[in-house]
Amino acid sequence: MTKPRLYSGIQPSKDSLHIGNYTGALVQWRALQDEYDAFFSIVDLHALTNAAHDPKILADATRGLAAQYIAAGIEPAKSCLYVQSHVSAHSELTWLLNTITGFGEANRMTQFKDKSQRFGADATTVGLFDYPVLMAADILLYDTVIVPVGDDQRQHVELTRDLAERFNSRFGEVFVLPKAQFPEEGARVYDLQNPTAKMSKSAESDAGILWLLDEPSVTAKKIMRAVTDTLGVVRFDWENQPGITNLLSIYTALTGRSEQEAEDEFTGRGYGDFKKTVADAVVAEFEPVRARTLELQADPAELDRLLAANAERAEAIANATLKRAQDAIGLLPRLR
Ligand code: AMP
Ligand code: TRP
Repeated sequence: MTKPRLYSGIQPSKDSLHIGNYTGALVQWRALQDEYDAFFSIVDLHALTNAAHDPKILADATRGLAAQYIAAGIEPAKSCLYVQSHVSAHSELTWLLNTITGFGEANRMTQFKDKSQRFGADATTVGLFDYPVLMAADILLYDTVIVPVGDDQRQHVELTRDLAERFNSRFGEVFVLPKAQFPEEGARVYDLQNPTAKMSKSAESDAGILWLLDEPSVTAKKIMRAVTDTLGVVRFDWENQPGITNLLSIYTALTGRSEQEAEDEFTGRGYGDFKKTVADAVVAEFEPVRARTLELQADPAELDRLLAANAERAEAIANATLKRAQDAIGLLPRLR
């Protein structure tokens, strides 16, 4: 029996993932890779749409993200982890999908609206506008059934379904309709300095972000300095104690304890003591992942070989889907 296909990806826009990417994406991916035929992409073409894109660091960040996928438990023997730009079908299918995407439809994407506002008129490119169509091409090329992503990607996966349905009804059954799958409660991590805002790679200050590749002493310091409150009780209460609740939620996500167990554990204990316990748990989780990442990064040639082999496997599937789409849309087949 063939397993259903799963597809997801992260942009190599920074040299390290943060704890939100780790608990919100990688931990879920790792758990799903047995049940599904999983493809995990490093979406470097998407990263080009960032206003802060720097050509000098992209290649290293791409390799580094591959290393972090593996170090976090994505097993190359089970899952296909590859670089988006190594498979040219992604760009080619994007063009075909562009021709059936409404301008107004793309213009309604809230992430585009947010980012274009943040980047300003000069850095708002056609590429940024087209970002969701490229994401649709990623997903559709692999006959994907499920797409594990954060809640912020809901609208993009909906657009993907709409485009697949439209293409199929105009040109014939070419694409499988995918479905988004969201992590359960507790997988959303907030900024340690501003615990009502989602922890984000693009936050202004570094103090509120726990990077997977931070030195353990830096991780501990950031947690000890996390913003809390004056109530003096450790309990789940997003409304009144977002800082404490965020730390508790990180703690339960990493240790597998229930909310009740975690609250019981810290009854009658001070915030300093609580933070120290959370810091120890985060460091214990991150330390082996960090060490393994550094080890893998020390042999870039080996990583490049792995990525090349996986690109080949991905390409075979993607090219077959692209060919179906090209034929269906009426392009003259090239004689081979
Ligand atoms: P991004 O950093 O936006 O490229 O996100 C990569 C993956 O990490 C996506 O699946 C996101 O949903 C997930 N992610 C990003 N930030 C967080 C966060 N603060 N908490 C939980 N998951 C997150
Ligand atoms: N847009 C996604 C994000 O920012 C990354 C992404 C690109 C993706 N292509 C994808 C996720 C395909 C899932 C499937 O998180």
